Amino acid sequence: MEQLVDPFARAISYLRVSVTDRCDFRCSYCMSENMTFLPKADLLSLEELDRLCTTFIGMGVQKLRITGGEPLVRKGILTFFEAMSRHLKSGALKELTLTTNGSQLAKFAEPLAALGVRRINVSLDTLDPRKFSEITRWGRLPQVLDGIAAAKSAGLRVKINAVALKGFNEDELFSLTEWCAANDHDLTFIEVMPMGEDMGDGLRLDQYWPLKDLRARLGQRYTLTDLAERTGGPARYVRLEETGQKVGFITPLTHNFCESCNRVRLTCTGELYMCLGQEDMADLRAPLRASPDAEPLEQAIRAAIARKPKGHDFDYSRQAIKGQMSRHMSHTGG
Ligand code: GTP
Ligand code: 5AD
Ligand code: SF4
Repeated sequence: MEQLVDPFARAISYLRVSVTDRCDFRCSYCMSENMTFLPKADLLSLEELDRLCTTFIGMGVQKLRITGGEPLVRKGILTFFEAMSRHLKSGALKELTLTTNGSQLAKFAEPLAALGVRRINVSLDTLDPRKFSEITRWGRLPQVLDGIAAAKSAGLRVKINAVALKGFNEDELFSLTEWCAANDHDLTFIEVMPMGEDMGDGLRLDQYWPLKDLRARLGQRYTLTDLAERTGGPARYVRLEETGQKVGFITPLTHNFCESCNRVRLTCTGELYMCLGQEDMADLRAPLRASPDAEPLEQAIRAAIARKPKGHDFDYSRQAIKGQMSRHMSHTGG
């Protein structure tokens, strides 16, 4: 079958699948404190998710990232990973991975590794237990650190994702970096994006920490060498010569990477978002349920990809937040 290509000649090879909108944390930049979650009956079943993902893989998707909410709180999630691992075995899928808050890893790291997961991304913005509870509202740091340790012992490579927040984790730039070096974790910093209604007040513009400033500060202590290597995501990496570790930067605000976008996002109800920073989406649940035939679903996917926009409109210049999304990050899993 023909490879999915969007109107800007970008091949779509990376599918991010949010398997639940629920989470055991309430990170302030991701969710409001009292979220109303979808009724369970609205969720796609694991079999339906399998059929959708398998269809995308047949259309040229080679990298599958499972997200949420928190993907590991979805009931039966290992069954789903097991089902997807057949595409690793067949060679159709190059990578099966997930982005997690780490809270459930003590239980899931071993089985995930056994199913062919090699590398995981864990969201962790601070190593201070008090600040961790503040930013995640419901999270406990020791549980996450135990989870990360379990992932390591299971042989998984860990990348820490830290949202860069001025006045919050600015003072931890070096301690986070050193902790990752000591534990052999990769580290990626992310510029905070305006997602969710209450981000208007929730995100104060003065919390935005442009990664070019963060990078310059890192450069005062370490020698940074740009790396050409890519993981298929939007991060650009440097090596810190003194520690040998890899540090990535995801810069939707200071450096737009949309021109090389290769991904779309599927939600747990079968909505396909063609861009994280745009409202447009396509409903794939209707064609999925209307017929067991592949054709209508594939046609709906092609029609959606044909509408993929050029990029997001996030912008904080002119001292105002522009391009804000009403949906929360947890809806699409970042
Ligand atoms: P790898 O490169 O495979 O490690 O993964 P990744 O960076 O694609 O995945 P991850 O889940 O770690 O993504 C980190 C965060 O980067 C996401 O949660 C988003 O906040 C942001 N991000 C990823 N893709 C996009 C994108 O297409 N557009 C924008 N604006 N942000 C993105
Ligand atoms: N801006 C940037 N990154 C965010 N994440 C969640 N909300 C935001 C936001 N508003 C990140 C999390 C996690 C990933 C899924 O998305 O920290 O690493
Ligand atoms: Fe949960 Fe991740 Fe959102 Fe935090 S960022 S509330 S851990 S989904």
